[in-house]
Amino acid sequence: MPDITFITSGGKVISAPEDSNLLRISLREKGGIPFKCGGGLCGTCKCLVEEGLANTDAVKKKEEKLLSTEELEQGYRLACQTFLKGDVKVSWEETPKGSATGTRQVEPKVEA
Ligand code: FES
Repeated sequence: MPDITFITSGGKVISAPEDSNLLRISLREKGGIPFKCGGGLCGTCKCLVEEGLANTDAVKKKEEKLLSTEELEQGYRLACQTFLKGDVKVSWEETPKGSATGTRQVEPKVEA
């Protein structure tokens, strides 16, 4: 069974059945890869396969649309479009906390 290491989630390691979808495993095991559409349209699940790129399946057309040639060469994949044949280690950019909630930094008021 392939071992998946979720680097950005503190290096959490889980075992998955062969040919598992990376995003589905992340969801099931709380790996933490961000996502929105689950269908190769939004690009939110972009992640970097830092080790074991050879253990992933072929790059899909949808990934070619959302990722640059450079990114693909570096090992970036869309987790929702990626199936695993062996061990991989993945990382991704964390969404900045507070950015979507509308929280603002307020300067403390100093009484004169
Ligand atoms: S979740 Fe939208 S492209 Fe993967």
